[in-house]
Amino acid sequence: MAKTKTSVFFCQNCGYESAKWMGQCPGCREWNTFVEEPVDRKVRSSSGKLRPASEVKPVPLSAIQASREDRISTGFPELDRVLGSGIVKGSLVLVGGDPGIGKSTLLLQMCRNLAAGQHSLLYVSGEESLQQIRLRAERIGSFSDKLQLLCETNLDTIREVITRLQPELVIIDSIQTMYNESAGSAPGSVSQVRESTGVLMRIAKELGISIFIVGHVTKEGVVAGPRVLEHMVDTVLYFEGDRYESYRILRGVKNRFGSTNEIGVFEMRSQGLVEVENPSEYMLSGKPEDASGSVVACSMEGTRPIMLEIQALVCHSFFNNPRRTATGTDFNRVNLLMAVLEKRLGIQLSDCDAYVNIAGGIRISEPAIDLGIVLALLSSRLDLVIDEKLICFGEVGLSGEVRGVAMAEQRVQEAAKLGFETCILPRVSMKGLAARKDIRLLGVSNVREALDVIQHQKHL
Ligand code: TYD
Ligand code: MG
Repeated sequence: MAKTKTSVFFCQNCGYESAKWMGQCPGCREWNTFVEEPVDRKVRSSSGKLRPASEVKPVPLSAIQASREDRISTGFPELDRVLGSGIVKGSLVLVGGDPGIGKSTLLLQMCRNLAAGQHSLLYVSGEESLQQIRLRAERIGSFSDKLQLLCETNLDTIREVITRLQPELVIIDSIQTMYNESAGSAPGSVSQVRESTGVLMRIAKELGISIFIVGHVTKEGVVAGPRVLEHMVDTVLYFEGDRYESYRILRGVKNRFGSTNEIGVFEMRSQGLVEVENPSEYMLSGKPEDASGSVVACSMEGTRPIMLEIQALVCHSFFNNPRRTATGTDFNRVNLLMAVLEKRLGIQLSDCDAYVNIAGGIRISEPAIDLGIVLALLSSRLDLVIDEKLICFGEVGLSGEVRGVAMAEQRVQEAAKLGFETCILPRVSMKGLAARKDIRLLGVSNVREALDVIQHQKHL
């Protein structure tokens, strides 16, 4: 008979699996991260028991009864949006984020809302004592008796409690502290995290209970043993934000029941997290007036347009290699756009230091902010003040052309709503846009035309 219990080496940083020990992980290039862990190679069915092959039969798709997705609202429209309009029954959701970012606070507040709506809940904490949770809860508000707490790290015990109580929703805080005896390795190790998630997945699917799992991220910004977890769960949410800023962004990375790329914006206050209903206003607060090197751009986050201020500081460099930094956007993209400006507009930038920053600490990777970066750089380099009622969006190509972007209508609509008076956008995106009285639309087809607009904006 084949050996079923073997041991394998796992990289504790990224989950890379190897039959022998290695000094450096080929997956993530970290040193000294391999730890030997026993693994159980037996194939298990979804109920955890071995099934003889004769019992395994495929089912025709048409014979499957699809029940309508039951969704529970979390009482936080921002969280509902990221989940795809509420929690799906029997789903497994992973909430990742840096320690101290507010994952436990968010989930406890969600529990408070749900408990008030007479949903039965179980909050399992492996990190904090009951008293600590109580102290946190006191800052947040009053709770109904529908929320039960449990301090436990043994998954077999947790499974029994869940089976007995049959709550509608379970929170596991955090997966790294959970311990499953059959895995045999230490809590927090890759195989332990994977086994534990597997157990929770089976509980969720068998009993139709939605489970939220909290996962800490490593210094590279991924949940420990990340890839293995991401494909097992239904939904992956990341809670991110700057430690020094009070707002937090919840981002959907994977969602089997809705679209990804949706974000929810929260602000951490002394009484817990508060939703930010109008993130654009929030991002633009504190924008300097009459300062060069600052422009407002529009980016789509899922289905929602967000206005943000892009700042650039370009100054003469005293280094052989000019210093360049990009905060909140891609560094290479900034270098590329500077090269485009140098080549297409003949503006000397190669001997300039450049610092680009997206104010407010949000991270944006959408190419539609290219035009904003370009205008901010030009504004700083040429010392041109850009009108504060002007907004722009568009992707910039290597020949300096301004390319069309999706959802131009929504962006213009949002800009007009927030009181912007001029919008610079790709000329190709002008087609299909209705003429508007409340906002002036200026289509540009390349960076030179965009520069003309900001140079002559006073005469518009
Ligand atoms: P927490 O939810 O414990 O973070 P995580 O579970 O992600 O590790 O959040 C802890 C931080 O939030 C802590 O630094 C204090 C802050 N906080 C507030 O500012 N106000 C509050 O009402 C609460 C409960 C926490
Ligand atoms: Mg916590």
